Formats: sequence, C-alpha cells, structure tokens
Amino acid sequence: MHAPETADADNYEARAKFPEMKQGTKEDWATINSHFMPFAAKIADRVLDHLRLLDGDYGGFPIDRLEHSLQTATRAHRDGRPEDYVVMALLHDIGDTLGSYNHPDVAAAILKPFVSKELHWITEKHGIFQGYYFFHHLGQDRDMREAYRGHEHFQACADFCEKYDQSAFDANYESAPLSFFEPMVQRVMARPINSIYMD
Ligand SMILES: [Fe+2]
Ligand SMILES: [Fe+2]
Repeated sequence: MHAPETADADNYEARAKFPEMKQGTKEDWATINSHFMPFAAKIADRVLDHLRLLDGDYGGFPIDRLEHSLQTATRAHRDGRPEDYVVMALLHDIGDTLGSYNHPDVAAAILKPFVSKELHWITEKHGIFQGYYFFHHLGQDRDMREAYRGHEHFQACADFCEKYDQSAFDANYESAPLSFFEPMVQRVMARPINSIYMD
C-alpha cells in the first residue's frame, strides 16, 4: 500500500496555520495546494491498491472479485474497446469493499472525473442491468432495468453487462494480469476532464 506522507507531522512550516477554515489565508492555501498536486497525481496508485483488496475475495462466486475485474477488462480489451472503456471495465466493481449495498455508486464516483458521461452512466447503472441475469433467482424483478428503457445509454449499459460483466465468471478464461492494465489506469487518471477543483 502507498503510505500517506507523514513527514508533515513534524514540519510545522509545511502546514496551514488556521484553526478554522474561515481564518485561512492565501499563504495557507498556497501551502495546501503545493501538497494537493503531488497527492492527486498519485490517485491511480491508490485506486490500484484498493482494487487489489478484491484479490482472494470470492463471496461464493466461481472466481474472486479481482479475477472477475480482470476478466471483464480483458474481454472488453480483446473486443476492441478503447482504453477509457477498458479502465471502466476493470474498476466497475471496485466499490465492492466499501459499498456492500451500492457498489456501482462507489465505482461511478471514482471514475466520474476521468470518463465520459456514457461510461459514468454504465458504471452507475450496471448493478441494475446486471440484475437481469440473476434478480429472478432472489425473488426480485429481473426487468428493473426497464425503468431506463429509451435512455440514450440504455443499450451501452446492456451491452457492457451482456458481453463483459455477466460473462466474466469463467474459471478457465485466461485474463491479462493487472500489470497489463496499470499503464492504462495511469493514463486515464492522469488528468481529470470533469472536477470542481480543476479548470
Ligand atoms: Fe457489479
Ligand atoms: Fe461485475
């Protein structure tokens, strides 16, 4: 794991001086900003570290959640999808650790600054669309996705689940390793295209 910077704890000059944010000064914010940029630049490392938490987490499925993520991304890549799509496929279930009851929302929030509205929508809605393949086994409505029929990204989300997500539980499939995808994650997360903190 990437440990947070701890040197600042011993370096008074490296920290802002305000006890309340409303007393902050331009100098305080120059100090904070000088730390923000190098920290933000390592977001891909932190996301990859978090993705690795899925390693060995089977949850009763035929393969663990990291392998499912790799298989989803590998299937998308081998089907000719562009890099941002492949990264979305890799990270679509990264919310499984912290979002047991809403994992697509967590992944969608992490991806939101770096991907198109369509890829964000696929990530956010994939839980409902994926339900088409199993909700009926749990006494739920497998057609919950019909609430979005007619939406401009309906078919894109249905395709993601049909081609890459619901199909990515094959213990005999040879996925590319995480190292294959790491440079893609680094490139896609190198710069936000949508953030209130960056213009
Ligand atoms: Fe999922
Ligand atoms: Fe999935």
